[in-house]
Amino acid sequence: ESSVDLRMFVFLILISPIWATKDEHHSFPNNFLFGTASSAYQFEGAYLSDGKGLNNWDVYTNTSGNIIDGSNGNVAIDHYHRYMEDTELMQSLGVNSHRFSISWARILPRGRHGGVNLPGINFYNNLIDSLLDKGIKPFVTLSHYDLPQELEDRYGSWLHKDIQEDFAYYADVCFGAFGDRVQYWATFNEPNIIAMQGYRTGLYPPSRCSKPFGNCTYGDSEKEPFIVAHNIILSHMKAVKIYRTKYQKKQGGSIGFIVNAIWFEPISNSIADRLAAKRALSFLVNWFLDPIIFGKYPVEMQEILGSTLPTFSRNHQMDLQNGLDFIGINHYTTLYVKDCMFSSCGNGMGCSRTEGFACQTGQKNKVPIGEPTVMEWYYVTPQGMEDMVMYLKERYNNKPIFVTENGYPDENWANATIKDFLYDINRVNYMRSYLDSLATAISKGADVRGYFAWALLDNFEWISGYTKRFGLHHVDFKTMKRTPKLSATWYKQYIANHSTIK
Ligand code: NOJ
Repeated sequence: ESSVDLRMFVFLILISPIWATKDEHHSFPNNFLFGTASSAYQFEGAYLSDGKGLNNWDVYTNTSGNIIDGSNGNVAIDHYHRYMEDTELMQSLGVNSHRFSISWARILPRGRHGGVNLPGINFYNNLIDSLLDKGIKPFVTLSHYDLPQELEDRYGSWLHKDIQEDFAYYADVCFGAFGDRVQYWATFNEPNIIAMQGYRTGLYPPSRCSKPFGNCTYGDSEKEPFIVAHNIILSHMKAVKIYRTKYQKKQGGSIGFIVNAIWFEPISNSIADRLAAKRALSFLVNWFLDPIIFGKYPVEMQEILGSTLPTFSRNHQMDLQNGLDFIGINHYTTLYVKDCMFSSCGNGMGCSRTEGFACQTGQKNKVPIGEPTVMEWYYVTPQGMEDMVMYLKERYNNKPIFVTENGYPDENWANATIKDFLYDINRVNYMRSYLDSLATAISKGADVRGYFAWALLDNFEWISGYTKRFGLHHVDFKTMKRTPKLSATWYKQYIANHSTIK
């Protein structure tokens, strides 16, 4: 123990010049949120405790063959029982906000077809109160991939329009129970992942795909992702309507939507590749933000997908206008894009209509776009942060933006010891360079209101199980012991230097 501390100390002294550099002069707007992030399924565990119902991820991870290391989130990192300790860790970092998600099946074990589970409400009340006690503002996501299994079994969840009523009901319960203390609401986290991984690759529940493998069952993967997304957009719209009519005036908070914001660079200067990069972005980001802000799908999608793309009724179009108060972006990486509408992808890359005939790759002539990480699609490409934020500023008329996730993965090497993870200089460099890039966008006039590090703690990384570690704190997955990494110490210092709380 103490030798670890001593080594850490010496190491900090050695690298201290690194973090005294450059970023000193950046300024962030008043009351900027510096936070940490988490999600219910990845953190809580307690999957059968206190009346919680089974959700789609419980069922999926407890079916063999779905998760790389055969693990599940039954216990996860036991945040359900350790939230007090965890909010203390946040306090010692000095963050002024924390992002978490609510487990739908903990609040409504059977969706709207059963009662509200009071112990579930109590858990989030306790979590929220312990955050507020410490001066940490809760930033709450309603849907971070998990939903009550009953909604899957009853009508096929996101494929069916009834899900809109279920989601609206769930949102209403949450605004009513927690909205007196929660000022930041996000309806959905990265819904493109639900649509594509759940209904195209089949890698996430409900695991539908065009060519069945393992536990994957057949589904029309050309169409279903767009039906799913459509139901998600309308679910968002209904929740926003409820928030704005019943709660917002009284409670004074704001409500937004979180997209998976990969930035795309054309692989060459050709017009075809430049257009392809635009299409890739449309099919990822504008797919959701255009309808929610302008009331219609992006033109590129309409042209390519034709009648495969559902349409909005007149009433929906009206309700959708300006349907969010802020845009949340989870931004980690940039990828190259090559056109495959007029030529082919090459290199075994797949060309698909569902992604706008735009092939995505991390390499050009075998040279990676940035330093690779242990996650196949994540490269260290900080410039993308500024580019993404500036793009959103222009397209969406300077809507407030929160960076709701940004972070760096380590491999959980077999036989590694805790020491191998504590000196996470790569994570420090990553976060500093991305924050620098964000600060540049802010200095150019982007209305960015906060930044959340993914993640507070090492946790369950979906189909990668416990093989990837994103935490600012190391978690021993056997004992559940939490230990701050170098990145935690660095982030604390960064916040202290840049905090603008009035
Ligand atoms: C985005 C997701 O929202 C989160 O759940 C995931 O753990 C991180 N990216 C890292 O891959």
